[in-house]
Amino acid sequence: MTTLTPAALVTQLRWRYAVKKFDAARKIPAETWAALEEALVLSPSSYGLQPWRFVVVDDPAVRAKLQPLSWNQAQVTEASHFVVLAARPTTTEADVDAFIQRMCEVRGGTPDALAAYRKMMVGGVVKAMSPELQGHWAGHQVYIALGNFMTAAAALGVDTCPMEGINPAGYDEVLGLPAQGFKTLVACAVGYRSADDKYAAAPKVRYATTEVVRHV
Ligand SMILES: Cc1cc2nc3c(=O)[nH]c(=O)nc-3n(C[C@H](O)[C@H](O)[C@H](O)COP(=O)(O)O)c2cc1C
Repeated sequence: MTTLTPAALVTQLRWRYAVKKFDAARKIPAETWAALEEALVLSPSSYGLQPWRFVVVDDPAVRAKLQPLSWNQAQVTEASHFVVLAARPTTTEADVDAFIQRMCEVRGGTPDALAAYRKMMVGGVVKAMSPELQGHWAGHQVYIALGNFMTAAAALGVDTCPMEGINPAGYDEVLGLPAQGFKTLVACAVGYRSADDKYAAAPKVRYATTEVVRHV
């Protein structure tokens, strides 16, 4: 197995920045894109419940509709790929049962054998949280997927721009997400930086590691 060296990892994390100007002519190869979709799917989530959908907007006409709903940021239409990350606003017993079903499909076994795990999930998410808290909880999971995705992209030398500067309700309408039980949270433009994006050369602004990371 080949693994990234610690130095190579840090190099890629320093190389990554929030791209403002993508090279519109450069497309991500299919194999690379497939790996990045896997990075989304393989993201961890609380209990493994995966309260999310990732909408890859392939259609240029749809991307053109999303740009004015994104402070007109050019990344929406210029990047090779554009993903909208959406959360399931509430989690019901039926959602827990669907996940139990999937566990049985993948690992074998019966829902009965997973009754204790089901009870834990229903107790911890469906019953213990108000609908509002369930929405926050699902949002946290979606942001884990966003981070995982961006780090995976950086490791492969693919650029990203995470985007919260969007109108989520407008996105929902364009993408028809609420009818599918999901709500837009954040988006991510993906591709390759333009040679003349001046932000690429700007030093990273981070607080000192000694300030942010404490050893006790
Ligand atoms: C959740 C999230 C939302 C963001 N939204 C936008 C955005 O809408 N447009 C943009 O140009 N940058 C956006 N950024 C980029 C941040 O401004 C950037 O990550 C931060 O300034 C740190 O710089 P760096 O990522 O280049 O190291 C967003 C970042 C995050 C994590």
